[in-house]
Amino acid sequence: MCGIVGYSGHRRASEVLMDGLKRLEYRGYDSAGVAMVEDGRLVLLKRQGELDVLQKALPKFEGRTGIGHTRWATCGRPSDRNAHPFVSCDGKLAIVHNGIIENYTALRERLESEGHHFTSETDTEVVVHLMETHFSGDLRQALADTVREIQGTYAIAAVLEGSQEIAAARKENPLVVGLGVKENFLASDVTALLSHTSQVLYIMDGETVSLTPNGVAVYDHDGASVKREPSVVTWSAEDAQKGGFEHFMLKEIFEGPNAIHNTLLGALDLIENGDVLPRMDFQTVKLVACGSSFHAAMVGKYAMEEFAGVPTTLELASEYRYSPGAREAPLVILITQSGETADTLAAAREARRRGCRTLAVTNVVGSTITREVDEVLYTRAGPEIGVAATKTFLTQLLAMYLLAIRIGYANGTLSHDSMRSALSSLRQSSNMVQSVLNHIHDIEEASKMIDKADHCFFIGRNINYPTMLEGALKLKEISYIHAEGFAAGELKHGPLALLDSTTPVIAVAIKGDHTYEKMLANISEVAARDSPVLGVGLEGDTDLSRLCERMIFVPPVKPVFSPIPVTVALQALAYYVANRRGCSIDKPKNLAKSVTVE
Ligand code: G6P
Repeated sequence: MCGIVGYSGHRRASEVLMDGLKRLEYRGYDSAGVAMVEDGRLVLLKRQGELDVLQKALPKFEGRTGIGHTRWATCGRPSDRNAHPFVSCDGKLAIVHNGIIENYTALRERLESEGHHFTSETDTEVVVHLMETHFSGDLRQALADTVREIQGTYAIAAVLEGSQEIAAARKENPLVVGLGVKENFLASDVTALLSHTSQVLYIMDGETVSLTPNGVAVYDHDGASVKREPSVVTWSAEDAQKGGFEHFMLKEIFEGPNAIHNTLLGALDLIENGDVLPRMDFQTVKLVACGSSFHAAMVGKYAMEEFAGVPTTLELASEYRYSPGAREAPLVILITQSGETADTLAAAREARRRGCRTLAVTNVVGSTITREVDEVLYTRAGPEIGVAATKTFLTQLLAMYLLAIRIGYANGTLSHDSMRSALSSLRQSSNMVQSVLNHIHDIEEASKMIDKADHCFFIGRNINYPTMLEGALKLKEISYIHAEGFAAGELKHGPLALLDSTTPVIAVAIKGDHTYEKMLANISEVAARDSPVLGVGLEGDTDLSRLCERMIFVPPVKPVFSPIPVTVALQALAYYVANRRGCSIDKPKNLAKSVTVE
């Protein structure tokens, strides 16, 4: 996934663009570039590497109109040549692009045979050459004609020499216009706009836009003008800043209690009044997601069966969309913090095609998934900049519990009292998380048990099996330690062969859970192989701490809700291990925050 920015107004475009790119860096960061209209001519600068490399090379441009891009390579390795923007042969047009042009090979062959000279290995470059063939004075029209020939997904922005106009188009990649006074902005994510404006226009699939300092015009696929009222973004620029923390990830872990609070505030009424899922005529629930969101879905399955007694199945979005398809028409819940993950969007479309009801759980208002489903439940974690999902994952857990409780109450599995009691436990969860954070230095100390390891295992049972999968994912993505999560009962079926004194095992056992005794037995097995065990359990649990080399304690909690504090403890553990290893925590290598390719 990559980031796009555009500006046309009265300020130095290069400054606005670089500021916007800085805020979008989490979307991709192996190269970056800008194209500006400078004294009527197009100038282009692009560099492989992080944004600083581009910043250092950037002269003091005076131009007031331009576009910029931060790239995460998908087609063509990271290099100066493959960085965006790309310019037409006559040097008059420049474009940036997010997404994938699927038919680029055929288009490139055709364009080369017509005499176009290509300079990169990317799919994107065909766009600017195609535009050149279509251009006859109207930039937006040339783009509209170009995208008709393209198969694939895109957000594209284009500039033209001697002009203050930016043209843009979108299909299945986010694009938003920011409205200012005698200046207008474009970005692939509102976080790039927050310091300039809160008035935005979300661009929809199939639309094209023309943006100048004095106005913004949106057109539908057939070229008819579209009237749309601006939306107001409530996230502040400060919400997207580090606020004194060393990394966004740590800041976002500390925002957990507030994120929980806001998510509950937004959803409790909806759940209690039955505004979410007003129709309850489904027999089964299917949960579909990718990455961390899939682990939230796994917790959701346990919660759904516990509170609602509804048979619940799980599928990775990338598998669901290609599966043969079930005969029944279940409720399909799609979980995606960004609302832009390509596989999850495709799964949502497939679910509707199969006649299922669809509900999305997402953190981003106006994201693509919200337009692909029947209903939406928003988590309210606020913007998350660190690539590793932390507070958004936490609020996804909340959403899973809320939906399970809602369905359980509506289908009669939960009495009114049990529903109220479950909701009141959820209300306690932000305090529980705060209490874990109050002892974060113990977790920092515990990280010393792991930071030198090459391999590390996470084990848990029941509803904490997915929590441990997430713990392992978090550790591997930011510390680059090979980490695997296992259902503790599976250890003896293979993984035990890998254990020795150099392989730390993180084990969660929650007193009161019906699998607690079994967990203690599994931990003893691990300790017998000399693996150092870091236990995660309830404060005061001496039975567990006796078996472990070291402990991370969480406050007393009903077992079914224990993934909430345990998750935060494991996020903090991953953070401190990665920090001790000097890793690039907010921007781990090869990873991006949201994956808009399949
Ligand atoms: C990427 C991110 C993960 C995230 C996954 C799914 O791989 O790095 O943190 O869990 O995408 O993203 P979504 O936005 O659909 O939840």
